[in-house]
Amino acid sequence: MNTCHEFLQHVLPKLGYRWAGFRKVRRQVCRRIHQRMQEIETNNFRNYLNYLEKNAQEWDTLDRMLDITITRFYRDRGVFEIVEKTVLPDLIVRARHERRRQLQCWSAGCCNGEEVYSLQLLWHERLAPDDIHLTITATDRNETVLERARTGRFPEDAFKDLPRDLLENGFDREDSCYVIKSKYKHEVKFLRQDIRNTMPDGPFDIIFCRNLVLTYFDTPVRNIVMTDILSRLRQGGYLIIGANEHLPETIKDLRQLKKGEPVYQLRTDS
Ligand SMILES: C[S@@+](CC[C@H](N)C(=O)[O-])C[C@H]1O[C@@H](n2cnc3c(N)ncnc32)[C@H](O)[C@@H]1O
Repeated sequence: MNTCHEFLQHVLPKLGYRWAGFRKVRRQVCRRIHQRMQEIETNNFRNYLNYLEKNAQEWDTLDRMLDITITRFYRDRGVFEIVEKTVLPDLIVRARHERRRQLQCWSAGCCNGEEVYSLQLLWHERLAPDDIHLTITATDRNETVLERARTGRFPEDAFKDLPRDLLENGFDREDSCYVIKSKYKHEVKFLRQDIRNTMPDGPFDIIFCRNLVLTYFDTPVRNIVMTDILSRLRQGGYLIIGANEHLPETIKDLRQLKKGEPVYQLRTDS
């Protein structure tokens, strides 16, 4: 076992992950593993594997090194267009019909908050009816990215897909970065949770579950986690997954809104 590639292929299944999810983006993870190997003065992967076998708690350390934190504002732009034109208008009508004044969204694996603030900007700048509020619960297991999300300070390269008006109205420029205006932090809660064992209660009108569960977890883990996620979706609510992800075939209660787009609605009884 000479390469990080081979090492990952060996250890990922033992931790409930799938190699295919990491294959193209593994550099970030391999850099952390090399650093860890230096810390414990191990110079090859075979030795590190022996170290793991002798130190059970090292598996947790390795697990924490596996976060892929690649994201950006308005990732999969077409999805945000559907959210703006179809999903949110439908949810507003439903909420009014049920005499609710609040829509609840969950961003699962929210990373630095790009997804959350994309939705906030879209809601406040383009929709925001007077009678309905949007609240967002955002979870991630990685405290470093959560702290960045709470701070709301982003480098220029996070914005290449964000519509110009949302960038101009939503941020203050500070040196080479952009800082989200504090009014967009209201009604957003960032929580540290490992989705494999803790989730917010719900029910949610929209769940963003993109580029985490269906990309990195192996089949048994993803089936358990997806079932728990769907139990938190309100009837008629929407699940949004990553553009390159597929729902397990065992999930029958969701209908795809538009062919080729990763936006699904939970069927209602009626
Ligand atoms: C690739 S990012 C996805 C960000 C965003 N959802 C998107 O699609 O652009 C994956 C995020 O999931 C988080 N993550 C990884 N494993 C997790 C777990 N078990 N529970 C909660 N978050 C996790 C990582 O820390 C990372 O921020």
